[in-house]
Amino acid sequence: MIYLDNSATSFPKPDVVYEFMNSFYRNHGVSPGRAGFDAAIETEEMVQETRSLLTKLFNGDDANRLTFSYNASDSLNMILQGLANPGDHVITTMLEHNSVLRPLFHLSQDGIIDVTHLPFDGHGYVNPDDFRKAIRKNTHMVVVNHCSNVIGTVQPLAEIGAICKEHRLIFIVDASQSAGAIPIDMKAMDIDVLVFTGHKCLMGPTGIGGSYVMEGVPVRLTRFGGTGVRSAQKTHLEEYPYRLECGTLNLVGVAGLNAGVKWVLEHGIENLHQKEITLWDKLRKGVQSLENVITYCADNPDNRNPVLSLNIKGFDSGDVGTMLDVDYDIACRTGLQCAPLVHVGIGTDKIHGTVRLSMGPFNTEDHIHAAILAITEIASIRR
Ligand SMILES: Cc1ncc(COP(=O)(O)O)c(C=O)c1O
Repeated sequence: MIYLDNSATSFPKPDVVYEFMNSFYRNHGVSPGRAGFDAAIETEEMVQETRSLLTKLFNGDDANRLTFSYNASDSLNMILQGLANPGDHVITTMLEHNSVLRPLFHLSQDGIIDVTHLPFDGHGYVNPDDFRKAIRKNTHMVVVNHCSNVIGTVQPLAEIGAICKEHRLIFIVDASQSAGAIPIDMKAMDIDVLVFTGHKCLMGPTGIGGSYVMEGVPVRLTRFGGTGVRSAQKTHLEEYPYRLECGTLNLVGVAGLNAGVKWVLEHGIENLHQKEITLWDKLRKGVQSLENVITYCADNPDNRNPVLSLNIKGFDSGDVGTMLDVDYDIACRTGLQCAPLVHVGIGTDKIHGTVRLSMGPFNTEDHIHAAILAITEIASIRR
């Protein structure tokens, strides 16, 4: 199989990730809690080390404010529900994944908040000035997808963050596609809450994600119980990391993430990104030269991740995906890719979305040549 669905989840993982998950779970897979025996202490150290690695990666200050959850969607739910107040206005974009759109939709459907979805331009970028123009008296927070999972464009976070800071708005960033792929500096970008997932560019397994919440950001508790700490207390713990973590963590997931982050740091975020973007550029040039192929927001390799959305005239995206799979053993993603408003923006919402090809660190030039050849052959079929 030629795997070009890395935006959904990176695959394969580096060998060290599989190996460390296995050895950790066999040797130390016990609950850290407040237990004093060696394996519990070593597990706690591994969890704390992972919090520290990610805190450093995002330029946070306090590793305890880096909390783990199941995935980005889980953390986004906790953050958005924990910050929304009745009567709030929230600004977000049409680039968002359903992991942001749906929690916000439910909050607005329940009459709690009012949401503005800002559009993006023909190249796939939102204009920071549009945030300024959309601010109302009751605007409380801004939620932005750092990197689109459909068209790959990376948004100007520092400029948007500066506007949020100036207007005292809480700035929440969905870094699901960018954490581990694009440098993120929460302080320089004035980010208040960063949400990440473990199973994409951080090279960890599924079932682990989390958030970093800056000091002073008033996230209310929305889940209670567990932790193994101060068991006689009736209420859930207010302090981080317990505030946003209840029950036993996905420890084997944290272990995989630990190994994944170390692997990414060892190989260098920028080196990995450069290699993948070079492949992306070859792919887009190879298919853009074909008469029947339409690509979306794919003009140049700057400020983007290696994600290419395309359609072949006369074909449904789902049929192209099936042909790529069955006839060429190429795995990709078709349809709306959980981001319906992106498709409204690029005009593909009524035609069943796009074919999305996304590269990862284990793709090669041979994979790209095979994909170009496959798309060339499909595009040459008369319809
Ligand atoms: C931009 C974006 N946000 C959120 C998510 C959800 O991530 P998870 O599956 O970890 O909840 C994804 C996953 O595809 C994504 O691409």
